[in-house]
Amino acid sequence: MGGIRTPGAERLQEAAPLPADDELDRSLRPKRLDDFVGQPVVKEQLQVFIEAARARGEPLDHVLLAGPPGLGKTSLAQIVANELGVDFKQTAGPAFQRKADIASPLTGLEPRSVFFVDEIHRLPRALEETFYPAMEDGKLPITVGQGAGARLVNLDIPPFTMIGATTRSGLLTTPLRDRFGVTLRLELYDPPELAEIVMRSAGILEVEIEPGGATAIASRSRGTPRVANRLLKRIRDFAEVRGTGVIDAQVADDALGMLQVDKAGLDRLDREILKVICEKFDGGPVGLSTLAVAVSEEADTIEDVYEPYLLQQGLLKRTQRGRVATPAAYEHLGLEPRSAEATSLF
Ligand SMILES: Nc1ncnc2c1ncn2[C@@H]1O[C@H](COP(=O)(O)OP(=O)(O)O)[C@@H](O)[C@H]1O
Ligand SMILES: [Mg+2]
Repeated sequence: MGGIRTPGAERLQEAAPLPADDELDRSLRPKRLDDFVGQPVVKEQLQVFIEAARARGEPLDHVLLAGPPGLGKTSLAQIVANELGVDFKQTAGPAFQRKADIASPLTGLEPRSVFFVDEIHRLPRALEETFYPAMEDGKLPITVGQGAGARLVNLDIPPFTMIGATTRSGLLTTPLRDRFGVTLRLELYDPPELAEIVMRSAGILEVEIEPGGATAIASRSRGTPRVANRLLKRIRDFAEVRGTGVIDAQVADDALGMLQVDKAGLDRLDREILKVICEKFDGGPVGLSTLAVAVSEEADTIEDVYEPYLLQQGLLKRTQRGRVATPAAYEHLGLEPRSAEATSLF
């Protein structure tokens, strides 16, 4: 991705992992299905499929996990491997550039392993087809040799479970999507679930926190466990430097204010997106790429990271012609509502 990033406190609200957060993610990652908070529908389905696969001694069907960043896709993939008691191998869509990049990891798998492909929507189209026979029949056809001596051989792939993760299931081709027997969509978490995650993380990090502090963080984490964990870590610093080290509701509130996270959990860029739509584009509709330029952010980041929460909060709408700010957005920003004529767009 690259491009222009927003500096300062608001960065910690971004839900995509920054390198420094990988370590935090790893230490706080739930290991078993029972440690995984929320997502009852997803958990129940996985539980059944895992139990059935285990009982039959077969690999689990291929699983596609979809949803915004930071909601637990990587965690779930590892949990599946742990619960099945099998090997876990992790890679990502962009790591595959040539057919040879596929042959070596697949042929080397332990039988029944979980083969996790993060950002699977970024798998080059030309290579997708190479995966199909591997996923279906445990065969990988490759060409050996060159010119007149070239011949096709079928490599044997041990039975395995492919788990694909994507923030954009819409970008997957239908044939690829169809090869996943199980498709699970992760939803944004509600505040009580996030409070539970914050309390759990505080326990692991040995941070002293009161339930009121956890509630305050939960309600301002844009429905995203990774953001909740990141805020917890920052607020701990604040509590240690400015207070007694204990995170209560007051300390959490003060720290969140300093970090420019508002009462609705919106950070500076969330507000900037809404403000630009309201003020520069008269409430919209405005196209995603135009909006991206106006707020100096990548279109992908806006769509993957920022929009899901703004949509869920009813502050933004996606229409055929572009993004539209809702009356609630005007109210949140303390702006005069639009004229009746403009509002009739809804
Ligand atoms: N349901 C959950 N319960 C507890 N912690 C969670 C849950 N989902 C995510 N987390 C936390 O959020 C972090 C980010 O999750 P991750 O699995 O890396 O998300 P994704 O792969 O979807 O971006 C994890 O390290 C974990 O600490
Ligand atoms: Mg991940």
